Amino acid sequence: MSQPTPPTPTPPSPLASPEPWDLVADGYVSDNVPLFERFAEEALRFAAVAPGARVLDVAAGPGTLALLAARDGAGSVDAIDFSPEMIARLEARAAAAGRVYLSAGAYPDGILKSD
Ligand SMILES: C[S@@+](CC[C@H](N)C(=O)[O-])C[C@H]1O[C@@H](n2cnc3c(N)ncnc32)[C@H](O)[C@@H]1O
Repeated sequence: MSQPTPPTPTPPSPLASPEPWDLVADGYVSDNVPLFERFAEEALRFAAVAPGARVLDVAAGPGTLALLAARDGAGSVDAIDFSPEMIARLEARAAAAGRVYLSAGAYPDGILKSD
């Protein structure tokens, strides 16, 4: 009697490392953020974030949702991403928005407090 063939292991996604995200960070902000903000706004509506609440945005990219949460009255927003280029854009956008309570960090090393 023949044995069943074991399943072929799924290769890891090429998107599970920071490098591809570093490469697309510039175009991501100009091309994707305007569209993705609409989904982020919908997500925040579903989450019903209370005024002053603490928000955690994991895989935040350039802060698409994090900046909207800060704008809409979150007390603090912790944004985590492992792409240094995405984090750089997040920090620049947060500074431009005047959001001093936004922090950024790379999972799993933790959150670097900006203030
Ligand atoms: C499609 S983008 C989404 C960014 C943002 N949430 C948005 O809505 O525009 C995916 C992001 O997840 C980040 N990412 C993917 N896996 C991650 C992980 N394990 N830890 C931290 N960041 C991760 C990537 O660096 C990238 O910035």
